[in-house]
Amino acid sequence: MIDAMNRRQSIRGFKTEPVPKALLKEILETATRAPSALNSQPWEFAVITGSVLDQIRAANVAKLRSGTPMTPDHVAALWPRESVYRERQVELAKQIFRLMEISREDKEKRNAWQERGFRFFDAPVAIIAMADRLLSESGPLLDIGMVVENICLAAVAHGLGTCIEDQGIFYPEVIRELAGIPETKRLIIGIAMGYPDWNYPANQLKTPRAPVDQMTAWVGFDE
Ligand SMILES: Cc1cc2nc3c(=O)[nH]c(=O)nc-3n(C[C@H](O)[C@H](O)[C@H](O)COP(=O)(O)O)c2cc1C
Repeated sequence: MIDAMNRRQSIRGFKTEPVPKALLKEILETATRAPSALNSQPWEFAVITGSVLDQIRAANVAKLRSGTPMTPDHVAALWPRESVYRERQVELAKQIFRLMEISREDKEKRNAWQERGFRFFDAPVAIIAMADRLLSESGPLLDIGMVVENICLAAVAHGLGTCIEDQGIFYPEVIRELAGIPETKRLIIGIAMGYPDWNYPANQLKTPRAPVDQMTAWVGFDE
């Protein structure tokens, strides 16, 4: 388990090899052992592959290219421009662009990279985690975060890779229409999943973390 936690990383390049449905089901069965408030299990999933996923990729890219405004059901990443969070975001982009040999001025390649995210990084599977609109918007987020991380860790244990991503669900209407998801479900986050292509440059990225002491108040210890 500790090993899977240490080895998990975002994978943004996948082999085309499909992932068997039985394995995906096993991963979800393990992952949904996650705790939740009062065992409410406030999560639902759409596991999408094949031609439907290809249609979603195409529709997402078409919307992006036409400049259609994005209206996500849930905004995961939102912070002030002047903040350490923004600095880390910029650093991440720099690291990825360096590995992908995308220069700052190369608008075409930057757009192509963005489109990759909207295509779920061409992964053979996309999992969409959703919550019923009966629930408050923020209420189920902690529970869903736990189940999503469990999915990613279980995937590692089975030799799979994942990238948690919101880009793929920035146009929820696309997923709703093509995957048949009703308005009553709030799309919270997407996960691209498949067998990692370890030769893909962006997969070489090992993202840094701030030192634990920087974010932790140790209270009541002798030293
Ligand atoms: C809520 C959330 C949303 C994310 N959205 C995206 C995304 O849209 N595109 C992307 O490439 N990565 C996305 N990521 C992956 C993060 O960039 C990644 O987890 C972070 O840089 C740490 O790197 P690591 O996963 O390799 O440890 C997302 C991760 C989370 C938790």
